[in-house]
Order: sequence, then structure tokens, then C-alpha cells
Amino acid sequence: MKNRSLKGAFGLATVTVLAFGAVSAMAETPPKKAELVVNEDTKLVTETTPKEGISNLEKAYDGWRFRSSETQAVQADDFDNPGMIFVDQALDQWNAVDGTEGKSCASCHGTPEESMKGVRASYPKWDDSMGKVATIEMEINNCRTNRMGAEAWKYTGGKMTAMNALITLQSRGMPVDVAIDGKAKPTWEHGKEMYYTRTGQLELSCASCHEQHYGDRIRAEILSQGQINGFPAYRLKNGKLNSIHARFKGCVRDTRAETYKPGSDDFVALELYVASRGNGLSVTGPSVRN
Ligand code: HEC
Ligand code: HEC
Repeated sequence: MKNRSLKGAFGLATVTVLAFGAVSAMAETPPKKAELVVNEDTKLVTETTPKEGISNLEKAYDGWRFRSSETQAVQADDFDNPGMIFVDQALDQWNAVDGTEGKSCASCHGTPEESMKGVRASYPKWDDSMGKVATIEMEINNCRTNRMGAEAWKYTGGKMTAMNALITLQSRGMPVDVAIDGKAKPTWEHGKEMYYTRTGQLELSCASCHEQHYGDRIRAEILSQGQINGFPAYRLKNGKLNSIHARFKGCVRDTRAETYKPGSDDFVALELYVASRGNGLSVTGPSVRN
């Protein structure tokens, strides 16, 4: 296990370049042109000019653009997209009574189509009642524990991630539009600092891979910009829907750094900042990735 180490994990050449910052051999490479049209009728925006607060990126690209044409095709049709199975399960859960108050999500919110359109596009966002920036997962658990008398779901668990996918789907095609000003500003600043801080034995930041080397090959993968507009993401690799914080955790671990807890203030801040790097891209989740 120990000497799976650098070579096994990243490919020696890549790691040398990344870890020692000799970027000359590689640099950001824009992905091939491709259009994401879901079910032959919903055209999604997969590249855009970065908005307020984002420097160092000429264009923002949806992660879909970096995947193979086979993987791309799976996401372009809801009948093929395995993420949609979880959305169906979440709809049953939406209508199921749970907790001491005898309520379901539907009791208060009606249908997801009626009540959740646009929600995913604006999250994470400042929540006055919580007094902090909240994610969709936090809102769901807030409803479960404080309004339904039900147990909180595990932050990155299957039920939570499926429910998030159902909510996300109601915003598909809408532009990501998270606010980075007002009360959210300090959180956004913290997330930005995290994004650029080199950590772990490999001394890599998010930017080392996802800003400076997108389009380059690492291990068997092509690096994307690490955007989150496509989450939750169904991964062919683990056969389930993956949440944003689970993905962050995997990436931090890959730098050989201590990781943060899913749902922690740190990861919420990082999520807000990363979301803002994709402001203007379509909400595309649930997406399909390797
Ligand atoms: C007893 C009523 C009640 C129940 C049951 C309930 N909610 Fe809520 N929910 C609310 C209220 C009130 C708010 C805050 C005001 C608003 O945004 O509608 C809210 C807010 C939310 C938000 C944030 C929406 C936004 O626009 O920012 C989400 C997401 C959400 N609920 C999901 C759920 C889910 C999923 C369930 C079921 C697991 C659920 N809620 C159950 C009453 C409820
Ligand atoms: C050693 C390089 C490396 C570092 C450092 C790294 N990642 Fe990643 N990340 C990857 C690889 C490889 C993938 C899978 C291919 C891809 O989508 O880029 C990935 C995927 C992702 C994805 C999924 C994107 C999608 O569209 O499916 C997100 C989000 C992400 N990373 C965020 C982050 C964040 C935030 C950080 C900093 C905490 C970070 N990554 C640090 C290598 C890295």
C-alpha cells in the first residue's frame, strides 16, 4: 500500500511536474468543442466567461466537456443516465411521511417542480435563520430535524444525495448564480483562500490541478476545472451518486493532506467559492462521470 505512492497514484512524470511547480511542460488546455443537449431538447451552457470575483480563468468549462464521447453520450439522455434512477427514488422519499410531525416534504412544499425550481442555481447561499451560508443538504436536514421531527440524513449519504439530485434537476438549464457579496462575502473569501492554499505532502492546491492543468492528463484521467455545476454526479467508477463534499474529500486526500469533514464550515466555504467559479454555466446535474 505504502508504495502505491506517487507513481501509482498519479504517474511519475505528472507528479514531478505538479509537485515541483515546473508548469512549462503542461498548461491549461481547453477541451474539444461539444454541445450538451439533453433528451434532444434541453441545450445546456458548458462554457462561459467567468463572472465577478474570478480571475485566472479565461473560460469556465463544465466537467462534461472533458469526458470521453462515450461518457458524454450517457449524460445526454435521461434514459441512459443512471443518476435518474436515484432521482426516482428521491421522489418516493419526497412523498413519504417521516418523523413525529407526520409530514412529508410534499406536505409543505407541494411538488418539487412547484417549489424547487431555481433553488439549486442559487446555493450555497446565506440563510438568515441559520446565521450562515447554507448548502442544500443543510436545508434538507434543517427541514427534517426542525420541521418534520425526523432524523438527520448523513451529509454525503445515499438518501441525501438522491434528494439533492431531485432538487437539482428542477434547475437544470438555469445558470448557476450564487451570491458572493453581502453576508456571504467572508465565507466566499475563506473558500477562495482554501482553493489556493497548497496542502499535503504533495503541496498541491485545488488550483494546481484544476486551474493550471485542466485538459492535461493525470493518471488515466483528463483533469477538468473541478466545477460543481454538474453535481450530484453519478460515477461509473463507484456506481452511485456522489455529492460535492465527498468529491472534495477525495481530492484533498489525493494531495496526502488531512481532509475536512463533509458539511463542515470549511467545505461549505469551499463549495461557495467553487460554485462561483461556475457562475453562468448551466446547472447540469445529475451528471455522469468516470
Ligand atoms: C413543515 C413544513 C416543511 C416540511 C415538512 C419540509 N419543509 Fe423544507 N422548508 C420549509 C420552510 C418553511 C422552508 C423555508 C422557507 C422556504 O424556502 O420555503 C423550507 C426550505 C427548504 C429548502 C430551501 C429552499 C429555498 O428556497 O431556499 C429546501 C431545499 C427544503 N426545504 C427541502 C425540504 C425537503 C427535501 C423536505 C423533506 C425531506 C422538506 N423540505 C420538508 C418547510 C418544510
Ligand atoms: C492532484 C490533482 C488534484 C488536486 C490537487 C485536486 N483535484 Fe479535484 N480532481 C482531480 C482529478 C484527477 C479529478 C477527476 C477528473 C476531473 O474531473 O478533473 C478531479 C475531480 C474534481 C471534481 C469533479 C469535477 C466534475 O466535473 O466531475 C471536483 C468538483 C474537484 N475535483 C474539486 C477539487 C477541489 C475543490 C480541490 C481542492 C481542495 C481539488 N479538486 C484538488 C485531481 C485533483
